Amino acid sequence: MRVLHSEKNTSYRIIFSNKIKEYIKKQSSKYKKIAVIADTNLWKHYGKEIGRKDILNIKIEPGERSKSIKTKNYIEDLLLKNNFNRNSLIIAIGGGVIGDLVGFTASTFMRGVALVHIPTSLIAIVDSSIGGKTAIDNKYGKNLIGTFYNPKEIIINLDFLKSLPNKEIRQGMAEIIKYSIIDSKSLFISLNQINKQFLLNKKSITNQIIKECIKIKIKTVESDFKESDKRMILNFGHTVGHALEKFYKYKKSHGDCIGFGMLVEAKIANKINHLSSNEYHKIKELLNSYELINLNIKKTNVKELLRYMRLDKKNLDSSVTFSLPKKIGSIIKTRGKHSIQIKDKIIIDSLNTVIDEIKN
Ligand SMILES: NC(=O)c1ccc[n+]([C@@H]2O[C@H](COP(=O)([O-])OP(=O)(O)OC[C@H]3O[C@@H](n4cnc5c(N)ncnc54)[C@H](O)[C@@H]3O)[C@@H](O)[C@H]2O)c1
Ligand SMILES: [Zn+2]
Repeated sequence: MRVLHSEKNTSYRIIFSNKIKEYIKKQSSKYKKIAVIADTNLWKHYGKEIGRKDILNIKIEPGERSKSIKTKNYIEDLLLKNNFNRNSLIIAIGGGVIGDLVGFTASTFMRGVALVHIPTSLIAIVDSSIGGKTAIDNKYGKNLIGTFYNPKEIIINLDFLKSLPNKEIRQGMAEIIKYSIIDSKSLFISLNQINKQFLLNKKSITNQIIKECIKIKIKTVESDFKESDKRMILNFGHTVGHALEKFYKYKKSHGDCIGFGMLVEAKIANKINHLSSNEYHKIKELLNSYELINLNIKKTNVKELLRYMRLDKKNLDSSVTFSLPKKIGSIIKTRGKHSIQIKDKIIIDSLNTVIDEIKN
């Protein structure tokens, strides 16, 4: 598969391969200086496969807290100390945290150095490694500092999923369900059919499903690299989801927050007479079957959530913007735009209705 970057008339490849060791070795003949950067979980599981004596091996603490200016500085110091320059290569191996952090670091090191992503979590494989968004967090919020920066290549090895904890698989499933609702009714149907057996045995996640999600992501980012409109559809579930993450001080997982977020946003779509009640219930059932409706939000929290939605960086003015499903498999388009501003009252009503429904 290939990802086109139409603004710059360039493209990069996504390669499926389980020969990671050989891939890294091959790069040694192309680049004088190479760094492999991964978190300690990855080093623990795959140290033999990804480490080499003749390249710089960098180990990062796992977790969102590493997406910081401090860790970025740490990597930069190591690269400079080891005489890395503009012709060097950085290989990011890991989940979305490593991908975002290392991608950002590569984009500013010597004004941009060659980068390869080797995504290892389900989220990274189907979502974060593709599309060129890089970021770190700071005390004001998540992903506020970053760049758009494409890698030279993305290497996908689904064998990495074998060691990924079940909880992390569920997080990736939330994004996969999102893809089905925004773009693919047939994927939605497949997800209904495979669900139980999948959760019991995560190795049964099919290449076909993963490839379909990757295709949707590629198609969407190709048409709108800098997120001026079409790319907004990827934010379905995320306007409410990000507010929930902030409300829980980032202690709840992203997938759990966007799971609840998708349900509330589907309810909004239903209240404004787009999504049918029948399809709303189908979405609710699917999220439920993947255990993605499990937050205990109360009506007394609704005002606070609304405040956080207003702070979201994607909002113009002070009203809250959403990308909402018209039906399963497509997003509402109004006046040529894939996003829509929603009145506070409808947001509050939808949150309250969902809270009531979940209680019963
Ligand atoms: N850039 C984008 O477009 C984009 C899109 C979605 C999410 N993100 C970002 O991605 C991050 C979330 O990604 P994530 O869930 O992959 O987080 P993560 O990188 O923290 O990975 C989750 C956990 O799984 C472990 N792990 C990863 N691969 C493993 C493997 N193969 N075997 C065993 N353990 C493994 C990690 O060590 C970590 O503990 C967030 O920071 C989010 O903002 C970015
Ligand atoms: Zn997400």
